[in-house]
Amino acid sequence: MSETTSAPTAQKKGIENFSSRNVFILAAIGSAVGLGNIWRFPYVAYENGGGAFIIPYLCALIGAGIPLLFLDYAIGQRYRGSVPLSFARISRWMESLGWWQTLVCFIIGIYYAVIVAWAAMYFIFSANQAWGEDPNGFFFGEFLQLSDKVEVGFDFVGGVFWPQLLVWVVVFVVLVLGVNKGIARANLIFMPLLLVMFIAMVVQALLLPGATDGLNALFTPNWSALGDPMVWTAAVGQIFFSLSVGFGIMVTYASYLKRKTDLTGSGLVVGFANSSFEILAGIGVFAALGFMANASGTGVNEVADAGIGLAFVAFPTIISEAPAGGIIGLLFFGSLLFAGFTSMISIIEVVVAAVRDKLAISRVAATITVVAIMATVSLLLFPTTTGLYVLDVFDEFINKYGILAGALVAVIAVSWIARKLPVLSRHLDKLSSFKTGRVWMVMVGAIAPIALTVMLVNDVIKKMEEGYGGYDAAFVGLYGWGMVAAVVVGAIILTLLPWSKRADTSFDEDAEDAEVHAIYVNRPDTPDAPLEADASTETEGAK
Ligand code: ALA
Repeated sequence: MSETTSAPTAQKKGIENFSSRNVFILAAIGSAVGLGNIWRFPYVAYENGGGAFIIPYLCALIGAGIPLLFLDYAIGQRYRGSVPLSFARISRWMESLGWWQTLVCFIIGIYYAVIVAWAAMYFIFSANQAWGEDPNGFFFGEFLQLSDKVEVGFDFVGGVFWPQLLVWVVVFVVLVLGVNKGIARANLIFMPLLLVMFIAMVVQALLLPGATDGLNALFTPNWSALGDPMVWTAAVGQIFFSLSVGFGIMVTYASYLKRKTDLTGSGLVVGFANSSFEILAGIGVFAALGFMANASGTGVNEVADAGIGLAFVAFPTIISEAPAGGIIGLLFFGSLLFAGFTSMISIIEVVVAAVRDKLAISRVAATITVVAIMATVSLLLFPTTTGLYVLDVFDEFINKYGILAGALVAVIAVSWIARKLPVLSRHLDKLSSFKTGRVWMVMVGAIAPIALTVMLVNDVIKKMEEGYGGYDAAFVGLYGWGMVAAVVVGAIILTLLPWSKRADTSFDEDAEDAEVHAIYVNRPDTPDAPLEADASTETEGAK
């Protein structure tokens, strides 16, 4: 059914496109493989049942991650806009869901930058092991100058501020260059480097004495963990964050796909590449921890510190003690830097595309506006003596209530209110090799929302009862719940602001179906055949 009568082709001219399906797949893997894989997965898996975590992890990947990845691809490719524009084209009120996801990227982007900056500095520190004899004291004391007082202060730390500023400058340069000259090229440079460095790091870690103790610790299953609902929530949270699903990234990237692209085939490649990388990261990190436990005569559970400590405290200790540790350090922190950087550009691109569409301004103007605002907030909050506390609370609350709750509301809206699953399933199946059909609709429309609801309710109850991370209630209230409330209110306000008169929010479902059908009918033998001459390809950077 048409919602408007205006021809969709008009607004589609001038949109940027990835030059080929392979470039898109590389960019999507670049977005997926990030801090979530190297920094987050190993400790999340370890804390949530070790080897047994693989069961909820695979269930979350197949039952929610991949089906929602297909949903994001279908929405982005069909409605061809940033997240607010794509959702507005489905139904006007749903623009607010697009802004919700955009603001989630705003929050993640501002703290992601500081972790990428730490990785850059630790890459340099690895050369001469600047942390000396005390990596813990160096990280929290000398490097972060962490205050004892949990608050938000503006006591800046130069050693973090300047690299963080540099990260924003490089992100700006990549994004201002556009989809092919900037985003695709950055991925073409950094992803092969990341792959080679990371495999070299894992091989070196596996050769260290004691590596098998680490692998035993990671893979020895704690079956009782499977009865704990929090373990399942952790698995779904990990999959969504790591696959870049449910917070606008894949909708935005898919909006730059040419019409004749095999969507589900690409999604399967991205999903399994991301999980393979993640499991490889677990193996590499725990092999190194096994060595560390062996060297210090303790158990792996003593050295497997959570989260931030794992990368920036445990790893420097390993680097100092291992044979050729300096090389392990360069490989590990180089991988963290490149993986984090290619993900960060995808996160900021969501906000750039949203602003570009709403105000109908050029990419250059949108990039300047977005990076100026985000870099300012990021540089005010995080390179300070209290930045780590805000980062910790933001990361926990935005993942649970920003990404998971946002994805839940979006699947309910698309499936049950706008009732678009049949249209989107048809769209996917006409263009793709792997057919979705009814099974996919049941997964997206029923299984995923039920599972997400149960998990979120459990998580909220636990947070209400126990608080979070030992912080006082006022701090969690303001920077955890308060930040989530600000995202929701912000999404409503941005929806109420009018679109630029030059913006085209119209969409003709029938015309789109006709075009997709024509592609289907004329489809050559291979789904990834060269694309027809497409005027839009030439318009890179023209907007
Ligand atoms: N998918 C990105 C990561 O894993 C955001 O870090």
